[in-house]
Amino acid sequence: MVYGSMDHRAGSVSVVTLRKMRGEGEPIACLTAYDASFARLVDAAGTDLVLVGDTLGMVVQGHASTVPVTMDDMVYHTRLVARGIERALLVADMPFLSYTTPEVALRNAGRLMQEAGARMVKLEGTGDQAAIVAALSGNGIPVCAHLGLRPQAVEKIGGFRLQGRKPDEAKQILADARELERAGADIILLECVPRELAAQIHEAVAVPVIGIGAGAEVDGQILVLYDILGITTGRKPRFAKNYMDAAGSVQAAIEAYVREVKNRAYPQAEHGFD
Ligand code: KIV
Repeated sequence: MVYGSMDHRAGSVSVVTLRKMRGEGEPIACLTAYDASFARLVDAAGTDLVLVGDTLGMVVQGHASTVPVTMDDMVYHTRLVARGIERALLVADMPFLSYTTPEVALRNAGRLMQEAGARMVKLEGTGDQAAIVAALSGNGIPVCAHLGLRPQAVEKIGGFRLQGRKPDEAKQILADARELERAGADIILLECVPRELAAQIHEAVAVPVIGIGAGAEVDGQILVLYDILGITTGRKPRFAKNYMDAAGSVQAAIEAYVREVKNRAYPQAEHGFD
């Protein structure tokens, strides 16, 4: 059999597509999903990347943080979402303590890809995770490295708060992003960092940079689906925008979000941090 340049999933988004989008300046629209029905709507709206986030621990399971989420939870929800996706790149979160060593990370990332259908895994990292990213990447597993606010470290950092405002913290996050890219990360995801720092990281790395509460000077945006539908209870993060009130239907709300990311109407200054 001759492969030539055959695309094994014609028409669907891949890491190569995302790199091309960065190169061409086309914004990358990303959302979370946790089940097949919402995944179908998110995919049909033209979302480029769908993340089965460990935020499911909070918005689906009702926990106060993502820490209680298990590998079995992630495999289960990723499998559900995979049934609803045709075009988007499906990314699954590696939950708390599922990537403590390269061996553990390989076994668990393997489950997300082989048992559940993920095409990329995401882990929260600093430079300390470089060997883990290198092991995954070296074994053909695409990796998204999540920096800035790392919700799995919430008990260590004392809450869900802005990261990188102090110059030494900003310097460290920038160095971590470079190191994780060198180790093989295919995407850098920045959560809750000042827009200036996000812009510097975007300048410093060649891979696509996706932001959440990281300003507009990155390659794409991601939000939690339940936040854009206005069904998250409790305190809303500053970057969350409710699209449901104006849209009137779930499908129209998701389409409005994708449209606003694509035409750069989202995020506005009020959704980011100085
Ligand atoms: O778990 C998640 O949903 C995430 C997004 C907030 C980026 O990491």
